[in-house]
Amino acid sequence: DKGAYPYYMLKEIDEQAVVARNISGHYYDDEGNLQGIDPEITDAIKKADRLYIVAAGTSYHAGLIGKRYFEQWAKIPTEVHIASEFAYDQPMLSEKPFFIFLSQSGETADSREVLDNVKKQGFPALTLANVMNSTLTREADFALPVLAGPEIAVASTKAYTAQVLVQAILASALGNPGFDLKAELAKVAVEIQAITDEKESFKKIAESALKDQHSAFYIGRGLDAAVALEAALKLKEISYIQTEGFAAGELKHGTISLIEDGTPVFALLTQKKTAGLLRGEVAQVAARGANTIVFASESLAKDGDAYVLPEVNELLMPLLAVIPAQLIAYYATLDRGLDVDRPRNLAKSVTVQ
Ligand code: F6R
Repeated sequence: DKGAYPYYMLKEIDEQAVVARNISGHYYDDEGNLQGIDPEITDAIKKADRLYIVAAGTSYHAGLIGKRYFEQWAKIPTEVHIASEFAYDQPMLSEKPFFIFLSQSGETADSREVLDNVKKQGFPALTLANVMNSTLTREADFALPVLAGPEIAVASTKAYTAQVLVQAILASALGNPGFDLKAELAKVAVEIQAITDEKESFKKIAESALKDQHSAFYIGRGLDAAVALEAALKLKEISYIQTEGFAAGELKHGTISLIEDGTPVFALLTQKKTAGLLRGEVAQVAARGANTIVFASESLAKDGDAYVLPEVNELLMPLLAVIPAQLIAYYATLDRGLDVDRPRNLAKSVTVQ
Protein backbone atom coordinates (compact mmCIF):
# COMPACT_ATOMS: atom_id res chain seq x y z
CA ASP A 1 0.00 0.00 0.00
CA LYS A 2 1.47 3.35 -0.95
CA GLY A 3 -0.46 5.23 1.74
CA ALA A 4 -0.33 8.98 1.16
CA TYR A 5 2.36 8.67 -1.51
CA PRO A 6 1.46 9.30 -5.15
CA TYR A 7 3.93 6.63 -6.28
CA TYR A 8 5.65 3.62 -4.75
CA MET A 9 9.01 4.92 -5.94
CA LEU A 10 8.82 7.98 -3.71
CA LYS A 11 7.71 5.87 -0.75
CA GLU A 12 10.59 3.47 -1.35
CA ILE A 13 13.11 6.32 -1.63
CA ASP A 14 11.84 7.64 1.69
CA GLU A 15 12.08 4.24 3.35
CA GLN A 16 15.83 4.02 2.88
CA ALA A 17 16.77 5.50 6.26
CA VAL A 18 14.54 2.98 8.02
CA VAL A 19 15.90 0.17 5.84
CA ALA A 20 19.44 1.13 6.89
CA ARG A 21 18.41 0.93 10.54
CA ASN A 22 16.60 -2.37 10.04
CA ILE A 23 19.66 -3.90 8.41
CA SER A 24 21.86 -2.81 11.32
CA GLY A 25 19.26 -4.13 13.77
CA HIS A 26 19.34 -7.49 12.03
CA TYR A 27 23.09 -7.87 11.58
CA TYR A 28 24.31 -6.39 14.91
CA ASP A 29 23.36 -7.33 18.47
CA ASP A 30 22.92 -4.75 21.24
CA GLU A 31 26.61 -4.89 22.10
CA GLY A 32 27.55 -4.05 18.54
CA ASN A 33 28.70 -7.55 17.64
CA LEU A 34 27.88 -8.99 14.25
CA GLN A 35 25.14 -11.59 14.15
CA GLY A 36 23.04 -13.36 11.56
CA ILE A 37 25.91 -14.43 9.31
CA ASP A 38 26.44 -18.17 9.64
CA PRO A 39 30.17 -18.89 10.26
CA GLU A 40 29.85 -21.50 7.51
CA ILE A 41 29.48 -18.60 5.07
CA THR A 42 32.53 -16.66 6.24
CA ASP A 43 34.57 -19.90 6.44
CA ALA A 44 33.65 -20.79 2.88
CA ILE A 45 34.52 -17.31 1.60
CA LYS A 46 37.84 -17.29 3.44
CA LYS A 47 38.84 -20.45 1.57
CA ALA A 48 38.38 -18.64 -1.74
CA ASP A 49 41.16 -16.84 -3.60
CA ARG A 50 38.75 -14.61 -5.54
CA LEU A 51 35.16 -13.44 -5.35
CA TYR A 52 32.91 -13.23 -8.40
CA ILE A 53 29.91 -10.99 -7.92
CA VAL A 54 27.26 -11.70 -10.56
CA ALA A 55 24.13 -9.61 -11.08
CA ALA A 56 22.07 -7.54 -13.52
CA GLY A 57 21.08 -3.88 -13.80
CA THR A 58 20.89 -1.99 -10.55
CA SER A 59 22.06 -5.04 -8.61
CA TYR A 60 25.16 -5.15 -10.81
CA HIS A 61 25.77 -1.50 -9.93
CA ALA A 62 25.48 -2.36 -6.23
CA GLY A 63 28.10 -5.05 -6.82
CA LEU A 64 30.53 -2.47 -8.23
CA ILE A 65 30.39 -0.73 -4.84
CA GLY A 66 30.58 -3.98 -2.84
CA LYS A 67 33.78 -4.93 -4.66
CA ARG A 68 35.57 -2.12 -2.82
CA TYR A 69 34.54 -3.47 0.57
CA PHE A 70 35.62 -7.03 -0.20
CA GLU A 71 38.94 -5.84 -1.60
CA GLN A 72 39.80 -3.08 0.88
CA TRP A 73 38.45 -4.56 4.09
CA ALA A 74 38.53 -8.31 3.50
CA LYS A 75 41.55 -8.20 1.15
CA ILE A 76 39.96 -10.63 -1.30
CA PRO A 77 40.35 -9.84 -5.02
CA THR A 78 36.84 -9.35 -6.41
CA GLU A 79 35.40 -9.21 -9.91
CA VAL A 80 31.93 -7.95 -10.75
CA HIS A 81 30.15 -9.39 -13.77
CA ILE A 82 26.99 -8.79 -15.75
CA ALA A 83 25.04 -12.04 -15.51
CA SER A 84 23.89 -12.15 -19.15
CA GLU A 85 27.50 -11.86 -20.31
CA PHE A 86 29.06 -14.24 -17.81
CA ALA A 87 26.47 -16.91 -18.66
CA TYR A 88 27.74 -17.34 -22.24
CA ASP A 89 31.28 -15.99 -22.00
CA GLN A 90 32.63 -17.34 -18.77
CA PRO A 91 35.95 -15.67 -18.05
CA MET A 92 38.96 -17.64 -16.90
CA LEU A 93 38.38 -18.32 -13.22
CA SER A 94 40.81 -18.41 -10.34
CA GLU A 95 41.65 -21.72 -8.68
CA LYS A 96 39.22 -21.28 -5.80
CA PRO A 97 36.41 -18.98 -6.86
CA PHE A 98 33.47 -18.06 -4.65
CA PHE A 99 30.33 -16.65 -6.22
CA ILE A 100 28.08 -13.97 -4.81
CA PHE A 101 24.75 -13.39 -6.54
CA LEU A 102 23.03 -10.07 -5.90
CA SER A 103 19.34 -9.82 -6.66
CA GLN A 104 16.31 -7.94 -5.46
CA SER A 105 13.82 -10.49 -6.77
CA GLY A 106 15.91 -13.63 -6.58
CA GLU A 107 14.30 -14.65 -9.89
CA THR A 108 16.37 -12.92 -12.59
CA ALA A 109 16.82 -15.47 -15.36
CA ASP A 110 20.28 -14.26 -16.41
CA SER A 111 21.60 -14.68 -12.86
CA ARG A 112 19.88 -18.05 -12.52
CA GLU A 113 21.61 -19.25 -15.67
CA VAL A 114 25.01 -18.37 -14.17
CA LEU A 115 24.15 -20.01 -10.86
CA ASP A 116 23.17 -23.21 -12.73
CA ASN A 117 26.46 -23.14 -14.64
CA VAL A 118 28.68 -22.61 -11.62
CA LYS A 119 26.84 -25.23 -9.55
CA LYS A 120 27.52 -27.73 -12.34
CA GLN A 121 31.19 -26.82 -12.10
CA GLY A 122 31.07 -27.45 -8.34
CA PHE A 123 31.80 -23.90 -7.13
CA PRO A 124 30.30 -22.49 -3.91
CA ALA A 125 27.76 -19.69 -4.12
CA LEU A 126 26.02 -17.24 -1.82
CA THR A 127 22.93 -15.25 -2.78
CA LEU A 128 22.16 -11.86 -1.26
CA ALA A 129 18.52 -11.28 -2.12
CA ASN A 130 15.67 -9.11 -1.06
CA VAL A 131 13.10 -11.82 -1.71
CA MET A 132 14.13 -14.79 0.41
CA ASN A 133 12.84 -18.20 -0.58
CA SER A 134 13.30 -17.25 -4.20
CA THR A 135 14.99 -19.41 -6.83
CA LEU A 136 18.41 -17.79 -6.38
CA THR A 137 18.33 -18.15 -2.57
CA ARG A 138 17.09 -21.75 -2.71
CA GLU A 139 19.57 -22.93 -5.30
CA ALA A 140 22.71 -21.32 -3.87
CA ASP A 141 24.66 -23.00 -1.05
CA PHE A 142 24.09 -20.00 1.20
CA ALA A 143 21.76 -17.03 1.37
CA LEU A 144 21.58 -13.78 3.31
CA PRO A 145 18.62 -11.41 3.39
CA VAL A 146 18.96 -7.89 2.02
CA LEU A 147 15.98 -6.68 4.10
CA ALA A 148 14.78 -3.75 2.00
CA GLY A 149 11.15 -4.83 2.42
CA PRO A 150 8.83 -5.23 -0.58
CA GLU A 151 9.93 -3.12 -3.53
CA ILE A 152 7.04 -2.44 -5.91
CA ALA A 153 8.23 0.37 -8.21
CA VAL A 154 9.95 -1.01 -11.30
CA ALA A 155 12.92 1.31 -10.75
CA SER A 156 14.93 -0.13 -7.89
CA THR A 157 15.94 2.27 -5.12
CA LYS A 158 15.94 0.88 -1.61
CA ALA A 159 17.07 -2.56 -2.79
CA TYR A 160 20.22 -0.92 -4.18
CA THR A 161 21.13 0.82 -0.92
CA ALA A 162 20.24 -2.33 1.03
CA GLN A 163 22.50 -4.45 -1.17
CA VAL A 164 25.36 -2.02 -0.67
CA LEU A 165 24.80 -2.05 3.10
CA VAL A 166 24.67 -5.83 3.40
CA GLN A 167 27.82 -6.21 1.29
CA ALA A 168 29.60 -3.75 3.60
CA ILE A 169 28.53 -5.72 6.66
CA LEU A 170 29.53 -9.04 5.10
CA ALA A 171 32.94 -7.65 4.10
CA SER A 172 33.43 -6.38 7.65
CA ALA A 173 32.75 -9.92 8.90
CA LEU A 174 35.60 -11.12 6.67
CA GLY A 175 38.12 -8.43 7.49
CA ASN A 176 38.57 -5.08 9.11
CA PRO A 177 37.18 -1.77 7.82
CA GLY A 178 39.49 0.07 10.24
CA PHE A 179 36.62 2.09 11.73
CA ASP A 180 33.45 1.40 13.66
CA LEU A 181 31.16 0.35 10.82
CA LYS A 182 28.08 0.02 13.01
CA ALA A 183 28.44 3.59 14.30
CA GLU A 184 29.10 4.89 10.80
CA LEU A 185 26.03 3.10 9.44
CA ALA A 186 23.93 4.79 12.12
CA LYS A 187 25.27 8.09 10.78
CA VAL A 188 24.49 7.00 7.21
CA ALA A 189 20.85 6.40 8.21
CA VAL A 190 20.61 9.88 9.75
CA GLU A 191 22.11 11.51 6.65
CA ILE A 192 19.95 9.55 4.20
CA GLN A 193 17.01 10.93 6.15
CA ALA A 194 18.43 14.45 5.94
CA ILE A 195 18.77 14.19 2.15
CA THR A 196 15.31 12.70 1.59
CA ASP A 197 13.93 15.57 3.70
CA GLU A 198 15.18 18.02 1.07
CA LYS A 199 12.95 16.89 -1.77
CA GLU A 200 12.13 20.44 -2.85
CA SER A 201 15.77 21.13 -3.76
CA PHE A 202 15.90 18.10 -6.04
CA LYS A 203 12.51 18.82 -7.53
CA LYS A 204 13.76 22.26 -8.52
CA ILE A 205 17.02 20.91 -9.94
CA ALA A 206 15.14 18.25 -11.93
CA GLU A 207 12.66 20.72 -13.34
CA SER A 208 15.18 23.38 -14.27
CA ALA A 209 18.07 21.25 -15.54
CA LEU A 210 16.08 18.57 -17.37
CA LYS A 211 13.18 20.47 -18.85
CA ASP A 212 13.02 19.82 -22.62
CA GLN A 213 16.37 17.99 -22.53
CA HIS A 214 16.70 14.78 -24.51
CA SER A 215 20.01 13.71 -23.06
CA ALA A 216 22.01 14.00 -19.86
CA PHE A 217 25.19 12.76 -18.22
CA TYR A 218 26.29 11.64 -14.79
CA ILE A 219 30.03 11.65 -14.25
CA GLY A 220 32.33 10.67 -11.40
CA ARG A 221 35.58 8.90 -10.62
CA GLY A 222 36.20 5.77 -8.56
CA LEU A 223 33.18 4.92 -6.46
CA ASP A 224 31.44 7.96 -7.92
CA ALA A 225 31.84 6.47 -11.41
CA ALA A 226 29.97 3.39 -10.18
CA VAL A 227 27.24 5.56 -8.64
CA ALA A 228 27.08 7.52 -11.91
CA LEU A 229 26.06 4.33 -13.73
CA GLU A 230 23.22 3.73 -11.30
CA ALA A 231 22.19 7.40 -11.31
CA ALA A 232 22.05 7.37 -15.12
CA LEU A 233 20.04 4.14 -15.21
CA LYS A 234 17.50 5.59 -12.78
CA LEU A 235 17.02 8.74 -14.82
CA LYS A 236 16.83 7.09 -18.24
CA GLU A 237 14.67 4.13 -17.38
CA ILE A 238 11.73 6.15 -16.07
CA SER A 239 12.05 9.62 -17.71
CA TYR A 240 13.25 8.31 -21.12
CA ILE A 241 15.91 11.04 -21.16
CA GLN A 242 18.88 9.28 -22.70
CA THR A 243 21.46 9.42 -19.94
CA GLU A 244 25.00 8.16 -19.83
CA GLY A 245 26.85 7.35 -16.65
CA PHE A 246 30.54 7.88 -17.24
CA ALA A 247 33.93 7.57 -15.63
CA ALA A 248 34.79 11.26 -15.88
CA GLY A 249 38.33 10.79 -17.20
CA GLU A 250 37.02 8.82 -20.15
CA LEU A 251 34.86 11.66 -21.51
CA LYS A 252 37.75 13.29 -23.33
CA HIS A 253 38.34 10.06 -25.24
CA GLY A 254 35.26 10.60 -27.36
CA THR A 255 32.02 11.22 -25.54
CA ILE A 256 32.71 14.87 -24.84
CA SER A 257 31.73 15.57 -28.46
CA LEU A 258 28.11 14.96 -27.42
CA ILE A 259 28.09 17.98 -25.12
CA GLU A 260 25.97 20.81 -26.50
CA ASP A 261 24.74 24.11 -25.14
CA GLY A 262 22.70 23.35 -22.06
CA THR A 263 23.37 19.59 -21.90
CA PRO A 264 22.93 18.69 -18.24
CA VAL A 265 26.03 17.09 -16.73
CA PHE A 266 25.62 15.95 -13.14
CA ALA A 267 28.95 15.45 -11.39
CA LEU A 268 29.31 13.32 -8.26
CA LEU A 269 32.25 14.45 -6.20
CA THR A 270 32.79 12.50 -2.98
CA GLN A 271 36.22 10.96 -3.42
CA LYS A 272 39.09 13.07 -2.17
CA LYS A 273 41.90 11.56 -4.22
CA THR A 274 40.28 12.46 -7.54
CA ALA A 275 38.35 15.59 -6.56
CA GLY A 276 40.82 17.92 -8.28
CA LEU A 277 40.71 15.94 -11.52
CA LEU A 278 36.93 15.89 -11.46
CA ARG A 279 36.80 19.66 -10.98
CA GLY A 280 38.91 19.90 -14.13
CA GLU A 281 36.49 17.69 -16.05
CA VAL A 282 33.53 19.75 -14.85
CA ALA A 283 35.30 22.87 -16.15
CA GLN A 284 36.03 21.16 -19.49
CA VAL A 285 32.39 20.28 -20.15
CA ALA A 286 31.23 23.69 -18.88
CA ALA A 287 33.60 25.31 -21.39
CA ARG A 288 31.76 23.37 -24.12
CA GLY A 289 28.39 24.67 -23.01
CA ALA A 290 27.25 22.01 -20.55
CA ASN A 291 24.99 22.93 -17.68
CA THR A 292 27.02 21.43 -14.84
CA ILE A 293 25.30 20.38 -11.62
CA VAL A 294 27.75 19.33 -8.93
CA PHE A 295 26.87 17.21 -5.90
CA ALA A 296 29.91 17.34 -3.63
CA SER A 297 30.55 16.08 -0.14
CA GLU A 298 30.98 18.75 2.49
CA SER A 299 34.77 18.86 2.67
CA LEU A 300 35.10 18.92 -1.15
CA ALA A 301 32.32 21.39 -1.90
CA LYS A 302 32.81 24.78 -3.56
CA ASP A 303 30.67 27.83 -4.15
CA GLY A 304 28.30 27.21 -7.00
CA ASP A 305 27.80 23.50 -6.31
CA ALA A 306 24.16 22.47 -6.62
CA TYR A 307 24.03 20.48 -3.40
CA VAL A 308 26.38 19.69 -0.54
CA LEU A 309 26.21 16.07 0.57
CA PRO A 310 26.65 15.37 4.27
CA GLU A 311 29.86 13.54 4.96
CA VAL A 312 30.34 9.97 6.16
CA ASN A 313 33.28 7.60 5.65
CA GLU A 314 34.33 8.04 2.02
CA LEU A 315 33.72 4.40 1.11
CA LEU A 316 30.14 4.73 2.33
CA MET A 317 29.44 7.93 0.35
CA PRO A 318 27.71 5.98 -2.48
CA LEU A 319 24.87 5.38 -0.02
CA LEU A 320 24.32 9.14 0.16
CA ALA A 321 25.35 10.18 -3.37
CA VAL A 322 22.71 7.97 -4.99
CA ILE A 323 19.77 9.57 -3.15
CA PRO A 324 19.71 12.92 -5.03
CA ALA A 325 19.88 10.96 -8.30
CA GLN A 326 16.88 8.84 -7.31
CA LEU A 327 14.90 11.96 -6.41
CA ILE A 328 15.92 13.77 -9.59
CA ALA A 329 14.82 10.78 -11.68
CA TYR A 330 11.52 10.75 -9.81
CA TYR A 331 10.78 14.47 -10.23
CA ALA A 332 11.96 14.67 -13.85
CA THR A 333 9.57 11.81 -14.68
CA LEU A 334 6.70 13.36 -12.75
CA ASP A 335 7.33 16.64 -14.56
CA ARG A 336 6.92 14.85 -17.89
CA GLY A 337 3.60 13.40 -16.82
CA LEU A 338 4.81 9.81 -17.07
CA ASP A 339 3.94 6.83 -14.87
CA VAL A 340 6.87 6.80 -12.44
CA ASP A 341 6.25 3.29 -11.14
CA ARG A 342 5.61 1.60 -14.45
CA PRO A 343 7.93 2.68 -17.26
CA ARG A 344 7.16 1.33 -20.71
CA ASN A 345 8.67 -1.96 -21.90
CA LEU A 346 9.85 -3.01 -18.43
CA ALA A 347 8.81 -5.60 -15.85
CA LYS A 348 9.81 -5.63 -12.19
CA SER A 349 11.38 -9.02 -12.43
CA VAL A 350 13.07 -10.18 -15.62
CA THR A 351 12.46 -13.91 -15.72
CA VAL A 352 13.46 -14.46 -19.36
CA GLN A 353 16.96 -14.54 -20.77
C1 F6R B 1 16.53 -1.05 -12.47
C2 F6R B 1 16.21 -2.40 -12.06
C3 F6R B 1 16.81 -3.54 -12.79
C4 F6R B 1 17.12 -4.70 -11.85
C5 F6R B 1 17.62 -5.92 -12.65
C6 F6R B 1 18.02 -7.05 -11.73
O1 F6R B 1 15.94 -0.08 -11.67
O2 F6R B 1 15.45 -2.61 -11.12
O3 F6R B 1 17.96 -3.15 -13.46
O4 F6R B 1 18.09 -4.30 -10.92
O5 F6R B 1 16.62 -6.35 -13.52
O6 F6R B 1 16.94 -7.50 -10.96
P1 F6R B 1 17.16 -8.29 -9.63
O7 F6R B 1 17.88 -7.43 -8.68
O8 F6R B 1 15.76 -8.64 -9.16
O9 F6R B 1 17.95 -9.53 -9.97
